[in-house]
Amino acid sequence: SKSFLIAPSILAADFARLGEEVENVLAAGADVVHFDVMDNHYVPNLTIGPMVCKALRDYGISAPIDVHLMVKPVDALIPEFAKAGASMITFHSEASEHIDRSLQLIKELGCKAGLVLNPATPLHCLDYVMDKLDMILLMSVNPGFGGQKFIPSTLDKLRAVRQRIDQSGFDIRLEIDGGVTADNIAEIAEAGADMFVAGSAIFNQPDYKAVIDKMRAELAK
Ligand code: DX5
Ligand code: ZN
Repeated sequence: SKSFLIAPSILAADFARLGEEVENVLAAGADVVHFDVMDNHYVPNLTIGPMVCKALRDYGISAPIDVHLMVKPVDALIPEFAKAGASMITFHSEASEHIDRSLQLIKELGCKAGLVLNPATPLHCLDYVMDKLDMILLMSVNPGFGGQKFIPSTLDKLRAVRQRIDQSGFDIRLEIDGGVTADNIAEIAEAGADMFVAGSAIFNQPDYKAVIDKMRAELAK
């Protein structure tokens, strides 16, 4: 049977109480901590860096940390995040001049590696790197902000990528990020995703466990 991972995006958490927030959302049943890194250059917003990742590890967070790099250039930050305790590192195909090199660098440092595709990014950037991918992240909103609406055409794209993964025979996670809620998670899973980022849908509710339980119930349908 298939395993689904729920990865709350801490972009929507209370940054003034970040350690506690992450602890609470993991206790509520989350599998992975999704960590959004924005640089006010590749995307029009500015968030958190390796120091904050390290601070979460020092605070005692032991769950996998999924670092989503929305930065350009990419490579200089990869060793910094690996040192800071990242478990997985993903970057956008448009942000790296040398996609194969960036993927190799992530893997050499012992992290899982993934490529991120924006809503309008074609799939051909996946063509010659399938053997180096632990995950593929499809953006279902344009990157930069939480709380946006899921872009419906992403469902067809998910189906196309799911087919590619299955045909490749490689063990690659298919992660979806942006506008995921308990109301649309079932159809997103049906289209082929097996890892779900959700920011506002979880952190904007008082009871994180209630939302995550509802998501798991939808996934079990
Ligand atoms: C957007 C980020 C997402 C975002 C998701 O650029 O990559 O991870 O936090 O937030 P929601 O779930 O609110 O769309
Ligand atoms: Zn993200």
